[in-house]
Amino acid sequence: MTDANSGQMGAGQTDSGQIDNVLIEDRLFLPPAEFTKKAVFSTQQQYEEMYERAKNEPDGFWKEEAEEHLHWFEPFGEVCQWNARHVQWFVGGKTNASYNCLDRNIDAGRGDRTAIIWEGEPGDERTLTYNELRHEVCKCAAGLKQLGVSAGDVVSIYMPMTPELAIAMLACARIGAIHSVIFAGFSAESIADRNNDANAKLMITADGLYRRGKVLPLKQTVDEALAKSPTVEHCLVLRRVNDESVSMTEPRDVWWHDVVDPQSGELAATPLDSEAPLFILYTSGSTGKPKGILHTTAGYNLWAKRTFEWVFDHRDDDIYWCTADCGWITGHSYIVYGPLSAGATCLMYEGAPNYPAEDRFWDLVEKHKVTILYTAPTAVRAFIKWGDQHVDKHDLSSLRLLGSVGEGINPEAWMWYHKKIGAERCPIVDTWWQTETGGIMMSPLPGITATKPGSCTRPLPGVVPIIVDETGSEVHDHHGGMLCIDKPWPGMLRGIWGDEQRFIQQYWASVPGKYLTGDNARRDKDGYYWIMGRIDDVINVSGHRLSTIEVESALVSHEAVCEAAVVGRPDELKGQAIAAFVSVRDREPNDELRQELLMHVRKQIGALAQPDDLRFTATLPKTRSGKIMRRLLRDIASGKEIAGDTSTLEDLSVLAKLREEES
Ligand code: WTA
Repeated sequence: MTDANSGQMGAGQTDSGQIDNVLIEDRLFLPPAEFTKKAVFSTQQQYEEMYERAKNEPDGFWKEEAEEHLHWFEPFGEVCQWNARHVQWFVGGKTNASYNCLDRNIDAGRGDRTAIIWEGEPGDERTLTYNELRHEVCKCAAGLKQLGVSAGDVVSIYMPMTPELAIAMLACARIGAIHSVIFAGFSAESIADRNNDANAKLMITADGLYRRGKVLPLKQTVDEALAKSPTVEHCLVLRRVNDESVSMTEPRDVWWHDVVDPQSGELAATPLDSEAPLFILYTSGSTGKPKGILHTTAGYNLWAKRTFEWVFDHRDDDIYWCTADCGWITGHSYIVYGPLSAGATCLMYEGAPNYPAEDRFWDLVEKHKVTILYTAPTAVRAFIKWGDQHVDKHDLSSLRLLGSVGEGINPEAWMWYHKKIGAERCPIVDTWWQTETGGIMMSPLPGITATKPGSCTRPLPGVVPIIVDETGSEVHDHHGGMLCIDKPWPGMLRGIWGDEQRFIQQYWASVPGKYLTGDNARRDKDGYYWIMGRIDDVINVSGHRLSTIEVESALVSHEAVCEAAVVGRPDELKGQAIAAFVSVRDREPNDELRQELLMHVRKQIGALAQPDDLRFTATLPKTRSGKIMRRLLRDIASGKEIAGDTSTLEDLSVLAKLREEES
């Protein structure tokens, strides 16, 4: 790649009502010619034409896409029925997501291809071809039927990252049951809330899971949850850690090896309506109880498949690794439904990135010759903190493409990823999307897009973003505002489970007729988008509206800083003051460093962005999916008691520590 410019940041302009853009990043990296030659998108024109067609002639475009990329038991009629917030795609058609992931590949002669290469945390390994995976999925689907599950029933899945997790999801899809995967780190209370909200009929879990060499007793947590989940009739339990002490309550609890293993490996996929619910996935709002985001069959499946193929430039010989857990949308779309529909070979890993040592990921990449790696900024920041020596031990030359998802990636973390992991050879796709969008919405296309560190660049075909101010009017380039999506796309959410009012209020009330993402963004002169954080995260200092990520990126660009979180706290004089929480490496966290960092931000952005408070902290509070919880930090910064839902917080002890560290 070519480093066309060096990084530079400068003071931005101000304009009332809009968010000021203070960080200017103008490094540009061109895709290597070798990569472009073989890429799925190899010319800019190809993208422009497809984008324009999808925008101007969506019905024709998506009709062809759906016919070519999904199996139809019965053809659909109308392509898209849209009435301002409710959408139906491929109306009246019948398909099945499990069929599309398995049978469709097998029918095409790809049954002996490896679908999943799995490695457990203790180092045990398994591979499953598409034939073998279908066999297991059919057995599990038959087992679910035996337990009384039928189309439209909700099945909660609380499992370790074993192949059986993907198998259970696909088994539900095969018979039209709706899965609700609950990340296997949530508490009994959170599981029960989700079971009750969804009226779950069955739970699938395991005796335990391995995490950093220890066993976490999953079944025990589930038992506690089931005591408060009256709708759950049975609990299907996989033996993973051979915990003999697991208690099984008969007749409610049954073993996977008793119910699933004896079944036949053949079970035809049920033809399901395009709009049949495929899954619910709970995601927390900034306040209130978690919401069950609903995705349906055909549109979601098509979106996951096509975005996977476009963004990851998938080829037959790729070994693709998405490091997410299936408990998050990234695991749903880019471990299961997208890559498997595309016939990809996926690596799946069960455990922690730092077990038995901090080089576990690089060991996996080297051993399995991973070509595409998709991970999160929180992981990249951890790798930087742990030190380059762990990376240097391994041969990463198999890698050809890197991806990032979940949060904005600070330009300096992007540069480290680019240099240290990608050896300046691999394009980076910074993919912006949400649980609600079902799949990637904005991302570089690795063969053609010149990337800028920190920007998710441009929308994919079918995505029409618009940035508006509080009155709903479109803002000019360079000015931040609320990011909305103007037209329906196949992968969009269909609702919040059982809560139509919240669905309307959250996504459709502020800007009529447009989907409100909840993120702020700006577009630059090249039409590139820069996500500026959640709408709630804007700080208003003396009438300047700043986005937290820009101040954070300025802090992270200092060599001593690993991670930074910036929030606003009330200030009588300025409206809001800027509070920064910073974790450092290789330096004493003392007053001298504090002054140095404050000056650094001043130099990078300007005096208006200089934090008023700067606290050092060993760790930052994060959601279980790795996002920094700015909401909690806001409460700490303003000396308030912690408010709101903390069910997604990874480590509550972090909060206690931050309190102690307050000076
Ligand atoms: C944030 C994850 C900046 C954003 C797939 C979004 C990002 C929320 C990016 C959705 C990115 C995700 N750059 N911000 N590349 N990707 N986000 O539902 O605030 O867990 O609204 O879906 O994460 O998080 P979710």
